[in-house]
Amino acid sequence: MMSDDPILYVNGDYVPLSSAAISPLDQGFLLGDGVFDVVSAWKGVIFKLDEHIERFFDSMLAACLDPGWTAEQWKDIIIETTRRNELRDATIRFIVTRGVPKEVVADPRNFDATVIVWAAPYIFLADEATRDQGIRLMISSTRGFPADSLDPRYKCLDRLHSQLVRLEALSAGYDDAIWLDHAGNVSESAASNIFAVKNDIVYTPAGGILRGVTRQTFIDLARAAGFKCEEVTMTPFDLYTADEVFTTSTAGGALAVREIAGRQIRRAAPGPVTVRLNEDYWALRESGANGTPIYD
Ligand SMILES: Cc1ncc(COP(=O)(O)O)c(C=O)c1O
Repeated sequence: MMSDDPILYVNGDYVPLSSAAISPLDQGFLLGDGVFDVVSAWKGVIFKLDEHIERFFDSMLAACLDPGWTAEQWKDIIIETTRRNELRDATIRFIVTRGVPKEVVADPRNFDATVIVWAAPYIFLADEATRDQGIRLMISSTRGFPADSLDPRYKCLDRLHSQLVRLEALSAGYDDAIWLDHAGNVSESAASNIFAVKNDIVYTPAGGILRGVTRQTFIDLARAAGFKCEEVTMTPFDLYTADEVFTTSTAGGALAVREIAGRQIRRAAPGPVTVRLNEDYWALRESGANGTPIYD
């Protein structure tokens, strides 16, 4: 249950949302200068917390934003925040920003990080009816950042481009959109990675993407189920002509795609490979493997 006034961890204290505050001068707010990660818990168990923490440390390291805490310290706060909200099915977001500048002309090396951990009830990217029938995707006119500008592997607060992608998709009557890289290759969607199935081979873009923890889980599950799974360069043509297309994210596992930019996907969504791999994903989660229990 979502509390009316959830407890957040903010800069050393556990505080109700109604009295939580950060400065309007925080660089995270002013500049999108921060990184974050998102894990989820199901039935009281956080899935692949170590993998999310590792990706978070990579983002912090690359962005020179590390407040110096150990992985264990981060984990304790993530678990404690979830406990204090008495959540078993949860989406937990942890954020670090460059905080409030110490001088008027801010030197980005001289900062005290702002840290926020927020545990909310579990979020699915789409409602149940949409999950059952599959989503409609467009190809966005907004491209992803090239790696020599802002490497997509940063999980950073600067998400204006993904908001623009979603705005464009929703305004055009689609559920979401895929963005391409500057060479016209398929990257990912606003908050998920993408897979295509063709002749029982599972494909996913190799680069120009956020390295989704769920994406890696589906690659491993596909191979364990006996499918060939290849990380490749693909263009929209490969999606239009696939047998099945699905997206993956921490917010629900696989989400079947039924249409891309006016083309019906060949097999009715959700297709059999999508269903099989999503069942394996939820079975893996329910098994407790790669899991961190929140409650003793
Ligand atoms: C741009 C983008 N790609 C992919 C993903 C999926 O990553 P994960 O499977 O780790 O949730 C996300 C998640 O928020 C995302 O924002």
